[in-house]
Amino acid sequence: MGERKFFVGGNWKMNGTKSEINGIAEFLKKGPLDPNVEVVVGCPQCYLAYSRETVPHNIGVAAQNCYKAAKGAYTGEIAPGMIKDLGCEWVILGHSERRNVFGESDQLISEKIGFALSEGLKVIPCFGEQLAERESGRTQEVVFSQLAAMKPNITDWSRVVLAYEPVWAIGTGKTATPQQAQEVHAQLRQWLRDNVSEEVANSTRIIYGGSVTAATCKELASMPDIDGFLVGGASLKPEFVAIINAKC
Ligand code: G3P
Repeated sequence: MGERKFFVGGNWKMNGTKSEINGIAEFLKKGPLDPNVEVVVGCPQCYLAYSRETVPHNIGVAAQNCYKAAKGAYTGEIAPGMIKDLGCEWVILGHSERRNVFGESDQLISEKIGFALSEGLKVIPCFGEQLAERESGRTQEVVFSQLAAMKPNITDWSRVVLAYEPVWAIGTGKTATPQQAQEVHAQLRQWLRDNVSEEVANSTRIIYGGSVTAATCKELASMPDIDGFLVGGASLKPEFVAIINAKC
């Protein structure tokens, strides 16, 4: 656990204006932020350049999606190289909203992860079960199959931070309990041990997303297999600082 640096990502989703980004940059600058935490904000693609210029330089900037080709006739898409060209290093892929609103498949997400890594980006792949899957006792089966679909394209685990986001907890105000989240994180780490390697299992950050707030973050952060968070709504507000500082 000691070797895994705590990681807190903010996923702004389709939110933000230049003036709102200025406000976010202000509270991030003011902090103070725990220096032992890696912080990345995921912003809308049209604001990648502006966010990179505005947000403090010790904070990474992520795109929220990208395509699996370097260029070409893919209207509306952006390439990993474009993200890098703007000075950003990260991309969030396979978010539940990409899967469920835009119909992205495990296969497409896996190919995007592979291409983004091959182009030199660091990747935050997201996955998690739906409520009906949890209620029918299929959580482990679902998350294992989502991970298995990604695995063939993950060529460098050191540039991947896995984000477990149970769909029923996203934007609902219904955070998974620390025990519920820990249980899945421990299963995911065991999966890595069994299917990749002991070293990857020990070193890969597995972060939790789903209605994380300043009120819920500390207890979640105390769980041995929770290595950070991917925060939606609360990352737009000053309470994001308290979430970054969850381990303090
Ligand atoms: O990627 C973050 C996420 O989906 C959780 O969103 O608003 O429930 O924190 P939220």
